[in-house]
Amino acid sequence: MIEVEKLSKRYEGRPVLEGINAVFSPGEVTALVGPSGGGKSTLLRCLNGLESFDGGLVRVGPDTLAPGDVRAQGEKVRRIRRRVGFVFQQWHLFAHRTALGNVTEAPMHVKGVGRQEANERGRALLAKVGLSHREDAYPSELSGGEQQRVAIARALAMEPEVLLMDEPTSALDPERVGALIDLLEQLLADGLTLVAVTHEMRFAYELASRVLVLHGGHIIEEGPPARVLANPHHERTRAFLGLGRVPALRTLGA
Ligand SMILES: Nc1ncnc2c1ncn2[C@@H]1O[C@H](COP(=O)(O)OP(=O)(O)OP(=O)(O)O)[C@@H](O)[C@H]1O
Ligand SMILES: [Mg+2]
Repeated sequence: MIEVEKLSKRYEGRPVLEGINAVFSPGEVTALVGPSGGGKSTLLRCLNGLESFDGGLVRVGPDTLAPGDVRAQGEKVRRIRRRVGFVFQQWHLFAHRTALGNVTEAPMHVKGVGRQEANERGRALLAKVGLSHREDAYPSELSGGEQQRVAIARALAMEPEVLLMDEPTSALDPERVGALIDLLEQLLADGLTLVAVTHEMRFAYELASRVLVLHGGHIIEEGPPARVLANPHHERTRAFLGLGRVPALRTLGA
């Protein structure tokens, strides 16, 4: 469970997040959507101590992050990162490690899992994301969608209580999106908390319990996917989703 209260953050004096309040509960899937630059990645990074913030608090289970330099919050941040997995928007795989090496690195070096056990679990995870045949390949030898699936397997290898994913389907074809939804559904049944930034409407509709729309550092709209995505109340959400554009096209003769 993660609780966020009055979270605010500035970059070089410019507000990027302002007074964000949200609770993310076990078994719940939150889809974070909104226009580019609205603060989605920044919010996600604040949730596991990857980013410092200026006001409010972030509570992850028994640990509470306070405003100010996260690096100075030492052991608390390490405990949080161990429990909260992250899949980066740009994947950030270790270039000098194979697919399997990427997946086994943290369990061995952070959790102290033995090499043999880490390899067995890593192979099973790579199989789940359809990459058994590529476990010895280096990131530079993998396609974008393959790298994205290694990044997902790497996050799952730590058996996180909470999984934060930044556009996890951006490089996946529709079949792989479906496979990822199936895999995450199994983990949700075991009580995973999932927060995903996504532009993939199928991911939001099939998996999410609720949608948060972030714009200009504020949550401007929140609710079940069927309501927010099909019938948004806020003008900015309608514009972001492209609703209301069809008549405009018609007048252009399209
Ligand atoms: N390290 C940084 N230094 C200064 N400004 C930053 C930094 N990182 C992000 N920003 C700014 O903060 C704002 C929010 O960025 P963020 O990456 O959270 O947006 P986003 O909603 O994830 O966008 P996208 O959909 O394009 O990924 C943007 O205006 C961005 O330019
Ligand atoms: Mg982003």
